[in-house]
Amino acid sequence: MPYVFITRRIPEDIITPLKAEGRVSMWEKEETPVPYERLEEEIKKADAVFCNVSDPIDAALLEKAERLKVIATMAVGYNNIDIQAAAERNIQVAHTPGVLTETTADLTFALLMAAARRIPEGIDVIKNDEWGAWAPFFLTGRDIHHARLGIIGMGRIGEAVAKRATGFDMDIVYHNRSRKPETEEAVGAVYVEMEELLETSDFVCVQTPYTKETHHLMNREAFQKMKSTAVFVNTSRGPIVDETALYEALKEGDIQAAGLDVFENEPVRSNHPLLTLPNVTALPHIGSASEDTRRKMAEMTVDHILQGLRGEDVAHKVEM
Ligand code: DGY
Repeated sequence: MPYVFITRRIPEDIITPLKAEGRVSMWEKEETPVPYERLEEEIKKADAVFCNVSDPIDAALLEKAERLKVIATMAVGYNNIDIQAAAERNIQVAHTPGVLTETTADLTFALLMAAARRIPEGIDVIKNDEWGAWAPFFLTGRDIHHARLGIIGMGRIGEAVAKRATGFDMDIVYHNRSRKPETEEAVGAVYVEMEELLETSDFVCVQTPYTKETHHLMNREAFQKMKSTAVFVNTSRGPIVDETALYEALKEGDIQAAGLDVFENEPVRSNHPLLTLPNVTALPHIGSASEDTRRKMAEMTVDHILQGLRGEDVAHKVEM
């Protein structure tokens, strides 16, 4: 009977199909990741692992796997998994693209708007009883409508963000490894070089996967190219940004504000330098966190495990 290990508590009704197919064990906590040592023990005997973004499925761990056939992550991003090490062992890796696109784009836009219009600062003013009176330039932020949005990484989520931007009459530019003529047509986005995107955009939004090539893509030099009135938004992966450079850019006024859903080392604590700045709107990696979408992601992950255990190709295989 195959053995499946699930690295975080998932509702019973979602995992029932797995129980019909094999023996299932689950790390029972929802908000605490499974310790690495436990993962090491489990990976030795597991035929399938249901994991998520905070589990480091690295080469050392995979070396211990004796019968593992499938790693299914409940996420679209898979930078926490050593894909090469898995491929060398003929272990299929599956992820959940598509199902979270619109939800993540919603959150990205919410963050963009919150950072531009200083919504968290406004909430604090009210809650802290600091509201004096209406004042001509009190909490003035940046206009979203008719501003230029620069999207770095025009994949599914980038396009969904661009679609939302058309409703605000934004002027959309993007940079991507390859041009996307269909997206250009669909949302009126214009392809530009990275430099032009950084220099001319009022909003710079990162929607690219995290890879060796995108590590610290947003560095000191990049932030210095941006407009001093620009707002930076990241809902993809933390390490795409050099956080020290971002902190300096925000502090020195090289850019106006940032909206961040992801960080280099998560979770961050309130003493993280970026969180001490009033012009940072921060969220705890909740891009895809709507109830419907998270359920769909979990169900899709279960399907991938069933496919892998049956010896089929998983529906959404991560290719090397
Ligand atoms: C993803 O899917 O990669 C998100 O970051 C987690 O929902």
